[in-house]
Amino acid sequence: MKHSVNGMSLSKSGQKLLDLNGSGRQLWQQRQHLLDVDSLQDSELEILLEAARVCREMVDNQEPPLALLQSVTIANLFYENSTRTRSSFELASRRLGATVLNLDIASSSVAKGETIEDTAVTLWSMGVNALVQRHHASGSAEQVAKAMGTRLKLINAGDGWHAHPTQALLDYFTMHQIRGSLNGAKIAIIGDITHSRVARSNIALLTKMGASVHVAGPPTLLPANLDRLNVKVYDRIEPCIADADFIMILRLQLERQKQGLIPSTSEYKKIYQIDSAKLSAASPNVRILHPGPMNRDIEISNELADNPKYSLISTQVRNGIAVRMAILYLLLSGKETN
Ligand code: NCD
Repeated sequence: MKHSVNGMSLSKSGQKLLDLNGSGRQLWQQRQHLLDVDSLQDSELEILLEAARVCREMVDNQEPPLALLQSVTIANLFYENSTRTRSSFELASRRLGATVLNLDIASSSVAKGETIEDTAVTLWSMGVNALVQRHHASGSAEQVAKAMGTRLKLINAGDGWHAHPTQALLDYFTMHQIRGSLNGAKIAIIGDITHSRVARSNIALLTKMGASVHVAGPPTLLPANLDRLNVKVYDRIEPCIADADFIMILRLQLERQKQGLIPSTSEYKKIYQIDSAKLSAASPNVRILHPGPMNRDIEISNELADNPKYSLISTQVRNGIAVRMAILYLLLSGKETN
């Protein structure tokens, strides 16, 4: 079917997005918020991959923005630092024609003590339809989503140690591009699991998709409840990555070192840094992911970080735009765009 939006005809990619159909599409349209990966159903994940593939083509071909979300206003509200997540949400929103508002927290009323709920209400009153929120407190996304109900759609861009659904979804998309289904894949996650919302969301999503997830890190950086998450736990990297298809390296959260959770950075490097020597234990076709920001030469050797044979780090960043476009499109486009 040939579509147009407000009288403007759409590019091929725009048409492909509008033509996406099925139960997954309807579930996304009925969905109010994206707070974690746990609530996503298989059909939602399937259509998300499909939409992200179209969006990735758009990014690769440097297509001009589509007018699909031109009646939507999206606010990026980052109470915590971010390079990748924040800028990819902004680029994704713009590529779909949305109006984007980037809040500078340091100079906002939050600095004067306004609650996160009141900030959300203020933005809603100004006509904001979707809030992309990152906050240092676990549970903050749910808190604001509950307070806002159906007034706006909230996308969790990371809440404390709890969840980072869009990162897990872009990691899943990246691995799926290479291997297809992850059913039966061996995926190793290495590093500071305790403080990592990336690890938590990935563990939930990857085990759900049938992958066998193995984790390794210093015992002081492994949470106590890991056995309940259906993963295998190691205190050394070599057995953890043996025959792995993918290895996800996490940032050593240097800011937490003051708390004395690891003896020293050099000790950590010796045991947990992924380098060519340790990599020989993995499958020859193994690929490495890192959500960024990375500490070069601490959790990953310089050489591996830039080695295109193994590293998927730049691919993850590029896919981040495509996956976030797909999420925004599926969540925010109504039937009225036909
Ligand atoms: C991570 C985050 O902020 O949760 N990065 C990201 O979103 N790309 C990981 C981290 O800070 O180590």
